[in-house]
Parts: sequence; structure tokens; C-alpha cells
Amino acid sequence: MAVYRNTFSESVNSDSLTISSDVDPALVEEVRTGLQKTPKSLSSMFFYDAEGSRLFAEIMHSPDYYLTRSEYEILDTQKADILRKFTPDNRPFELVELGAGDGLKTKILLGYFDLQKVDFTYAPVDISVDALDDLVIDVRKQWPGLQLNPRHDDYFSALEHLSTETDSRKVVLFLGSNIGNFTPEEAINFYQQLYNRLQPGDLILTGFDLQKHPAVIHAAYNDRQGLTRAFNLNLLRRINRELEADFDLSAFDHYETYNPENGEARSYLVSQKAQTVAIKALDMSVSFCYGEIIHTEISRKFNRIQIEQLAQQTGFSMTGWFTDCKGYFADVVFER
Ligand code: AVJ
Repeated sequence: MAVYRNTFSESVNSDSLTISSDVDPALVEEVRTGLQKTPKSLSSMFFYDAEGSRLFAEIMHSPDYYLTRSEYEILDTQKADILRKFTPDNRPFELVELGAGDGLKTKILLGYFDLQKVDFTYAPVDISVDALDDLVIDVRKQWPGLQLNPRHDDYFSALEHLSTETDSRKVVLFLGSNIGNFTPEEAINFYQQLYNRLQPGDLILTGFDLQKHPAVIHAAYNDRQGLTRAFNLNLLRRINRELEADFDLSAFDHYETYNPENGEARSYLVSQKAQTVAIKALDMSVSFCYGEIIHTEISRKFNRIQIEQLAQQTGFSMTGWFTDCKGYFADVVFER
């Protein structure tokens, strides 16, 4: 079995450890606890440093990663219907986007809403400062008149600010199958929190990746260009840089599974030899056996029945279902 050991004796006060001030405390906590678990795990939330965001943008353009193209098609071909769902009465609304990223797909909607002289504000939320800064610069340039309220935050703390911001109708965008990163319990909790924050008539548009031939899904997370591999390994590079660790990236491999019985694609990093890694900023070292894994991501795939159940269990009604021509992906409207 893998052995975790703290290189400091128990009596050492952790306040004396020197962790540079620009280190994300959430990353510190995740690495400390995640690498002590059996099996080891690190949350996919930490993929998105500058390099991770750049790699994910490349993934979105790669031929094997169908998700972005499918959702782009939905938004592009059905934007008029989507707008009618958002404001059948032409009432102004606040578009809050959780996990905006580079906003590639959202810009289809922004451009169309602008052209239709729709009265709305845009509040993108993202955990990556780099991605958010780029998005804000871009949106300001393309639509100088648009009212923009960006927030650098994680989803859940952003939700806490929802109710206080304005009293116009809220439309929450949660695109790109970001919902797939949640466990089933986390997904329910997420919609319950939204239910508590929103007013009757407010809407959520969620992008769900749908169950399809397992080989198609597996290939999307095991792409021929090796982008997903680089994206996964970049998490170790980030930990090396931010927590002064010495992960040897050539001694870890990317491994992907897709289980069609539960719709879970899972990403792992695999230790290719028995090794011990030092994480200087945490004063800890972590040992790996040959073949030992770190679980890094769940990307869950849904079917329509599960999505309807999710709405029902959390108090919403499913009032819109938009899909691409292949039926690979769905953008789904939940009404509070
Ligand atoms: C950004 C969470 C939607 O799970 O499909 C892409 C991230 N991971 N390739 C996904 C990801 C590996 C992506 N999401």
C-alpha cells in the first residue's frame, strides 16, 4: 500500500510553515487531504491555472472533444428560441454565467442579444482570474455598451451574492457540461442552493453532455493529440510551481475510463514507478506504489430521465430542451 507520511513530527506547529502568500489556500487544503486519501484524489477544480485554461481552450477546438461543437451548434442554431425562453415578455434580465471560461459559446448569445437590442446585463463568474480577465477585455471590446459585472469566484460563493445584486429576472448559465464534474449528491445540492437563491420565474440554462456510444465519450477524454493528457498532467506542474513540489511529470501517465453503466468518465494520473514526491511548502512527502493512481476528474454523462429527475428533486420545472442534430448534448432550461 501507499504510505503517506508527514516529514515533520506531530508536534510541529503548522503556523510556522512558510507558504507564500499568493498560494491558493483551497489548493493547499486539497493537496494536503487529497493525497492522504485512499485512493488518492485531487479535484478537477484546480486544473485551471493559466496553462490549464489555455490547454482546455485547445481541447475545446480538438476533433475528439465533441462537446463544445455540439453545444456551439445548439446555441447558434436555436438562439432565437433560447431568447424567447429567457424573456417571453421582453422583461430585462441579468445573465449570470457560472464557469464562464473564455466565453466562446456565450458570445453567440451576447452578440445575438445585442443585435436584438435586448435589455440585459452580463455577470460572468470564473475561478480562473486569467480566463476572466481575457473574457472581460474581449467582451468590452466587442460590445462596449454591454453592462458587465465580472466576479472572480467559485460557483458556490458566487451563488451567495445572487440574491442581493438586483431584482430583475435572473438567468443562470451553466454551460459546457460543467455540471458533469459534480457527484450526483453535489449536483442536487447545487440546484437546491440555486432554488434557495432564485425567485419564482428565474431560469437556469444548463449544458448536459448526454449518454452516447461509450467509444465516442472515451475518445473525447483520451484525444489523439494528447491534449487531455497534458491538461491532466498540468495539475502536477501547478503543484510543483505553487507548492514547491518535485513531481516528475515523465513518471506519471494519463488514464481515462468511461463506465456506460453509470455515465461516468473518470480521469486518473498513474504513477509509472514506485516513487516519493516532496511537497516542500506543505512539509510533506507522498509515496506512490508502481501503478498507483490519483483520481482527478469525473465528467458525468446524463440521459433525459435523469435530467428530468434532477429538476423534480430540486423543485424546478424543466421548461426547455435544446439539442444538437446528433443528440450528443442538451442545453436544458429549469424554471424556478
Ligand atoms: C470543462 C468540466 C466540461 O469535463 O468535459 C475536458 C473538462 N476534462 N477534458 C469536461 C475536461 C477533460 C470539461 N469541463
